Amino acid sequence: MSQSSQHWVATAGQPLRGDLEIPGDKSVSHRSVMFAALADGVSTIDGFLEGEDTRATAAIFSRLGVRIETPSPSRRIVHGVGVDGLKAADGELDCGNAGTGMRLLAGLLAAQPFDSVLVGDASLSKRPMRRVTGPLAQMGAKIDTQDDGTPPLRIHGGQVLTGIGYTLPVASAQVKSALLLAGLYAQGETSVTEPHPTRDYTERMLSAFGVEIEFSPGHARLRGGQRLRATDIAVPADFSSAAFFLVAASIVPGSQLRLRAVGLNPRRTGLLQALRLMGADIVEENPSTHGGEPVADLVVRHAPLHGIEVPEALVPDMIDEFPALFVAAACADGPTVVRGAAELRVKESDRLAAMATGLRTLGLQVDETPDGATIHPGALGGGTIESHGDHRIAMAFAVAAQRAGGEVRIEDVANVATSFPGFDSLARGCGFGLHG
Ligand code: S3P
Repeated sequence: MSQSSQHWVATAGQPLRGDLEIPGDKSVSHRSVMFAALADGVSTIDGFLEGEDTRATAAIFSRLGVRIETPSPSRRIVHGVGVDGLKAADGELDCGNAGTGMRLLAGLLAAQPFDSVLVGDASLSKRPMRRVTGPLAQMGAKIDTQDDGTPPLRIHGGQVLTGIGYTLPVASAQVKSALLLAGLYAQGETSVTEPHPTRDYTERMLSAFGVEIEFSPGHARLRGGQRLRATDIAVPADFSSAAFFLVAASIVPGSQLRLRAVGLNPRRTGLLQALRLMGADIVEENPSTHGGEPVADLVVRHAPLHGIEVPEALVPDMIDEFPALFVAAACADGPTVVRGAAELRVKESDRLAAMATGLRTLGLQVDETPDGATIHPGALGGGTIESHGDHRIAMAFAVAAQRAGGEVRIEDVANVATSFPGFDSLARGCGFGLHG
């Protein structure tokens, strides 16, 4: 079986045991190839995520005239062309499922002397883009969307951009990053303020590429007209992928897993805090840094979980982890309340609706609100789950099934390969009941 199968059948398996290597971080992989492409000189990237999203970004840079070698899986050698060296592509640029790819590229390509068109798959084609095109227009960019603000993005190059000071209405690392990339080409200074700090990989990595950028949690500022200097990047293992195994081992009695060298950037690890508030037994061992990011092995053992009110301040730090959190909540003792998470409605699917509907199918009561949900735990049964082509919904229900009394059929799982190629074999290898 492979992940390209269109569905999985998942059932409770064995207690989960093993020592797992989780693939590279998606956010870091996207940025590493983008910034290496813009740098002067040759950069090597190790630990690059061989997922469809990040490969789509690499393929786009090849089409923009950047030579990228793949000497072995998860390694890329990028021959940077400099900030002024990209060339017009010979057609539309396909970002696949990746909001990160499309939104960051919108900022970068808005500043080029040539026109570009960015397209995406069915899910990405429904996602809101005005959050980037609006502030980019304030900088002088010209980008057309569909009437409802969705892709394709038709970017008219050759504009003169001017730096702005922008306060984000919603916490979004993608929007912040798009503005900073445009800001590299703009006259004067570009500064971004966020309502809550978001992942700062763009800031940290631009700095590693030699860009002078001032940043602190919630703020970033750079001056236009700077160049990037090639540097080698080591991509840590993706916490968001590790999250499914953290929850799975927590809820399946008798489990113990070690997840090797997982990236623990504090802007990503809200789920770790939430799970610990719920009573999870997760220990960090062998701490070190990897490519400037904190990493550690995570050793997780089964523990009885109890429901919590998820602190709203944690929401941006666990924004990709709510599908996994809902499953932990489903198996806890007492209800879990989520608030302040309306952004989940505009991810790869409406994740509040997808998780609520799926858990109801398995027999639970879930009360949905516009910006959250209350999950009432109970015995999980079998049923057929619509993943809506959302990788994280599919993986979350594969985890939930490990505690289900019946067979869980999960539809439309091919997109798991966008972020976590090999999830199914890794999961089976440590004891999951999971078949194509
Ligand atoms: C990402 C930022 C987040 C996150 C996404 C990756 C990034 O999106 O959900 O998976 O790499 O910058 P938003 O910026 O829309 O919150």
